[in-house]
Amino acid sequence: MIIPFSPPYIDQDIIDEVVDCLKSGWITTGPKVKALEVEVCKLTACKEALCVNSWTSGAMLILKWFGVKEGDEVIVPAYTYSATALAVLHCGATPIMVDVKDDFTIDVSLIASKITEKTKVIMPVDIAGWPCDYNSINELVNRPEIHSKFQSKNEVQAKLGRILVVSDAAHSIGAKIAGVETGILTDITIFSFHAVKNITTAEGGVICLNLPAPFDNTEVYAYLRMMTLNGQTKDAFTKSKAGGWRYDIIDLGLKINMPDVCAAIGLAQIRKYDKNLLLERKRIFDMYSNEFSKYSWAQLPPQDSETIKSSYHLYALRLINASEQQRDAIIDEIAKLGVSVNVHFIPMPMLTLFKKLGYKMEDYPVAFDNYSREISLPIYPQLTQEQVSYVIKAVVDSYFKVVLNA
Ligand SMILES: Cc1ncc(COP(=O)(O)O)c(C=O)c1O
Repeated sequence: MIIPFSPPYIDQDIIDEVVDCLKSGWITTGPKVKALEVEVCKLTACKEALCVNSWTSGAMLILKWFGVKEGDEVIVPAYTYSATALAVLHCGATPIMVDVKDDFTIDVSLIASKITEKTKVIMPVDIAGWPCDYNSINELVNRPEIHSKFQSKNEVQAKLGRILVVSDAAHSIGAKIAGVETGILTDITIFSFHAVKNITTAEGGVICLNLPAPFDNTEVYAYLRMMTLNGQTKDAFTKSKAGGWRYDIIDLGLKINMPDVCAAIGLAQIRKYDKNLLLERKRIFDMYSNEFSKYSWAQLPPQDSETIKSSYHLYALRLINASEQQRDAIIDEIAKLGVSVNVHFIPMPMLTLFKKLGYKMEDYPVAFDNYSREISLPIYPQLTQEQVSYVIKAVVDSYFKVVLNA
């Protein structure tokens, strides 16, 4: 049996929505993007949602809006996909890495000692769809001694008057803490709609605004939207209307808008997300957990509790007491059985760019431990019970073969 790692979910509704866009005569940013933004607001209850062409570009835009630049620091976990830190580097600022906990998310108890007068933003990451401890992070940035360290360098920073919390929720659309959706747990949340994500637009992302008073989120949305279009006062859709040709460029923007033809995919998916696609992911997540809980060598990923609900983006299995080499050998054996698995993530300090910048893996022991024993298993709505059982058997057989030479 061949089991791919994460094929996109494409059904007739999605094909119909894309065809509708193709036949409409309008394929770049327009009504489908607007409709997707409305759906994101409905799902998450965020005040405004702005679609962009990737999580990465969305993060760059937000850091640029907040005026993050050379000399500034942004706190990120060491354990994430590198886009989290790359967005910071693109602004000329320094990513300050913090180790994570056993649940893969940033260790909030280690953040305070990393905050300096240069800290402008904290960017926690909801790894695998498991939300971070946002209550503690939001409490931390409002502590008087942390508040008083914040030095605002522009109008936007002065208006907030404290460190901005931007959640890297690339994985976690649909996750919840105490019934509250990711999307409104921090000042700003960015979801990814990359091809392997729970909801996809092939490539894409969405910025959810939830800024406190005195910010006017609608005003910020309008400004940011313009900044996704080269700082141009009118989008191409508006400009294409009869008589609507005149425009101005009023700021140095980026060109990171999402096309309608991509939004159409996500639009059809999000309409069936919380009542269907997310539940299908949970079905597979629970099947894995039920089976692997029978093995003393298997460490299950964090499980839903009364208050925390995952988005089941990845099934991050860890092998208790396995070495990195054994984990790698087990992945090779699983691959021989036709199952594609993955590792999330290679911690950033192990990657060449970050090594060259001076980050050292030994400074982040939990991140290394999580990485060295982790295998991400296929999890997506199309997987049948039979396929999931096959994956489980492939993992178990491979484990016994490598670790016990059985
Ligand atoms: C945790 C995390 N952050 C950011 C990104 C970047 O997302 P995008 O590919 O939409 O830029 C990813 C993508 O895999 C991710 O896993």
